[in-house]
Amino acid sequence: MTRHGSPASRRSFVALGTACIGAPSLALWSRVAGAATRRLTPAQTEGPFYPLTIPADSDADLLANGALRYGRGQPAWVEGTLADADGRALRGATIEIWQCDEQGHYHHPGDGDRADRAFQGFGRAMVDADGRWRFRTIRPVAYGGRAPHIHAKVKLGAREVLTTQLYVEGDPGNDRDFLWRRLAAEDRPLITRPFVPSGDGMKASFALVVAA
Ligand SMILES: [Fe+2]
Repeated sequence: MTRHGSPASRRSFVALGTACIGAPSLALWSRVAGAATRRLTPAQTEGPFYPLTIPADSDADLLANGALRYGRGQPAWVEGTLADADGRALRGATIEIWQCDEQGHYHHPGDGDRADRAFQGFGRAMVDADGRWRFRTIRPVAYGGRAPHIHAKVKLGAREVLTTQLYVEGDPGNDRDFLWRRLAAEDRPLITRPFVPSGDGMKASFALVVAA
């Protein structure tokens, strides 16, 4: 290299530097470049029905509340992954979901505490070593002008890093839902996924990405 005074020579210096970096640097470069393709999951309002106190049964099976079994609605696996913007699995994070029962009621005094006692309504799952999580619940239903949705919250330890809502792709209520309509067009597919038939009900998968 000679002089780097002019813009043209600065460009060639950058080009030379890029050509000379070794394999480890190239690997780092691709990881950072890949990060730009991982769009963060959009946040949405928590809504008024997050539990006032966490229920005694708050595991990942919302179709079993204590000894009671819930037999209404369409059983569904709601599952997915959790990663940071660089694609690293966030093992040990907690995913919480809450939703109304098949008749549109939440376990919450603000909704008259009318939900079916057999429907757990709230659950927690831990993200496994591969970054995966899974709940057994029902396909969400519409109520009070809202499109079908499941509320979700992500916690890293005690720190809340995301609160959002998960929607059903193709549901006719989405276009009329005031919260779904507020989503940027490129954000909608991130939290709006198809519920497809599986061997034992329905299944929907959501790839959540958070700034860790
Ligand atoms: Fe809701």
